[in-house]
Amino acid sequence: MNKAIVLSILIIGSLAKSSDFPPFDIFHAHCQISAIYAGRQCTDTFTRMSSIVQGFEGEDPAKGKYSLIEQNINDYIWAERISSSKWVDDVIFQLTQTPAGCQVVGKARAQYFYFKNDGTTYCDIWNVLKYTDVFSNLSTKSCRIVKTNPSVNCVAY
Ligand SMILES: *[C@@H]1O[C@H](CO)[C@@H](O)[C@H](O)[C@H]1NC(C)=O
Repeated sequence: MNKAIVLSILIIGSLAKSSDFPPFDIFHAHCQISAIYAGRQCTDTFTRMSSIVQGFEGEDPAKGKYSLIEQNINDYIWAERISSSKWVDDVIFQLTQTPAGCQVVGKARAQYFYFKNDGTTYCDIWNVLKYTDVFSNLSTKSCRIVKTNPSVNCVAY
């Protein structure tokens, strides 16, 4: 193989994509939440959300820690969250500009094989959404537990 081909394969191989996020399955707790930041540009929402996620590297409202895995500007933010009891979840936020505002789809998925059913993946997403900005039109998909009153119930898990 010539050098140019090898080099281009290496470059393509190193490009991260939001589609690399692990898929939902029945063996790992998971949840998806969509919401909209009405009237906002995703350029603005991305900046805010990225700084919230990085701020949560110290500690999040539920005493866990996020660490940024990768992000693509104005497109997605992918982080890992470790709870105080050492459960690890992947969490991704994908941003799409719509005429109504910045639409965000957040997904969280446990890394370990476990069937814990306590709604923590919901809160992994919800806390970041809430601290980023005021959102509306929240909807969920594939969440076994949807927390009621998350502003209270997502700070202790
Ligand atoms: C939120 O949902 C309502 C009802 O479906 C819709 O009328 C409204 O336009 C939505 N808001 C935004 C900002 O998309």
